Amino acid sequence: MSVTILVGAQFGDEGKGKIVDYLSENMDMVVRFQGGDNAGHTVVNESGSFKLHLIPCGIFKKGCKAFNGTGMVINPDELIKELNEIESKGVDTSELYISERAIILMPYHIALDSASEAGGKTGIGTTKRGIGYAYADRARRNAMRFENLKDLEYMKKRLEAVMPTVNAELKAKGCREYSVEEIYEKAVYWASVLGKRIVEPVSFINNAIDRGENILFEGQLGAMKDIDLGIYPYVTSSNPVAAYAAVSAGFPVKKIDNIVGVMKAFTSAVGDGPFPTEMNDEMSDGFRGTGNQIDDEFGARTGRARRLGWLDLPIVKFAATVNGFTSIAICKVDKLDSYDKIKVCVGYKLNGKEIDYMPSAMDLYKVEPVYKEMDGWKTSTKGIRSYENLPENAKKYIELIENYTGVKVKYIGVGPAHDEIIVRD
Ligand code: GDP
Ligand code: IMO
Ligand code: MG
Repeated sequence: MSVTILVGAQFGDEGKGKIVDYLSENMDMVVRFQGGDNAGHTVVNESGSFKLHLIPCGIFKKGCKAFNGTGMVINPDELIKELNEIESKGVDTSELYISERAIILMPYHIALDSASEAGGKTGIGTTKRGIGYAYADRARRNAMRFENLKDLEYMKKRLEAVMPTVNAELKAKGCREYSVEEIYEKAVYWASVLGKRIVEPVSFINNAIDRGENILFEGQLGAMKDIDLGIYPYVTSSNPVAAYAAVSAGFPVKKIDNIVGVMKAFTSAVGDGPFPTEMNDEMSDGFRGTGNQIDDEFGARTGRARRLGWLDLPIVKFAATVNGFTSIAICKVDKLDSYDKIKVCVGYKLNGKEIDYMPSAMDLYKVEPVYKEMDGWKTSTKGIRSYENLPENAKKYIELIENYTGVKVKYIGVGPAHDEIIVRD
């Protein structure tokens, strides 16, 4: 039995979906523990190609339960849409459960998020899915939770209490207002479609741990976008770090056995904020592709062209420090196959002096990356399935990451598909 937490080690989109899909072969349950449908987790397997936003990527494994945990902000309409989409491709979703403590992300959260972004001045490049406003309502105790779908009369009273505040804010931002009846009608529909999936989460998870099941917690985004530890304010509104899985699900941190950090062989980000190794457009076009391939660098949620740069090891080391990685999974090594020279950032200078910590956003804008240049391997790695068969220079790249972070690289992605992976003992 084991409890494994899998999280992003950079700015999100590291390849978490692919690694969760791979690891779920040995799992009894996969749990999403934060975020909402701002996520876009790509899975390419026997069932097809998918970009999942809310449903945990373990859904494809027969007999593996999928759980939308407390700590998430869930748009029920998006969840229903996603369930219908994957069911239409023959995927069994009968074992998808929802925490009664998860927050319901409402249509007005999306309107407020979009209006804030459109305003320009406070724009941080969000996904406009309403994430920040749903978490804000949670914090000020104005949110509805999935448990409210089990007692609609009570929900109506809560809506009557909070809608005047919501509508005042909508009005101030120039958005249309919502009536209690309109939201209530939606709630009746959500209850009829999703009601049977709603469960009490703390016993659900702890009983599974006590039964000795293998449980995987699937993080969304990455450490640099953590609301407390990341590049505030260009962050999301939750904690995509491993410790939050225990807070969210309600189990003791000492029960965590493995923490897998997923990183990309280079760096990508969507949205605003500092990005020390960002490349100029001409260089990044080569990495990005045109958008025709599943692994081209366009946001799996918003379709925005991702910002791209060389691997930034201080970022990965920071993520290893705050999460406590027990292993690393690196994706997209194959995307470096054709380069003569590969640059890796191995330190930062701030005001001319090397620093040994991760500065917050304002200073991170000012740092100057210190690069190490390595020789490329100029061979396709896509068909390789054992570490020994990797080209020597690719092994040197992996070893540099291990030496810098002090964490073993256990999984190496060499293509987007399920079996395009090297697993080391
Ligand atoms: P996530 O948000 O961390 O799940 O990552 P995304 O799905 O948003 O982005 C990762 C992208 O990389 C997707 O297009 C994947 O299909 C692709 N991908 C993942 N692992 C590999 C890999 O090892 N090689 C290649 N070429 N593509 C990969
Ligand atoms: P996955 O799980 C990459 C970014 C947005 C924005 C910031 C805040 O696929 O790795 P939000 O909508 O959360 O309020 O936006 O975070 N962002 C992501 N970037 N991958 C994601 O998810 C992201 N989810 C949010 O672009 O900069
Ligand atoms: Mg993604």
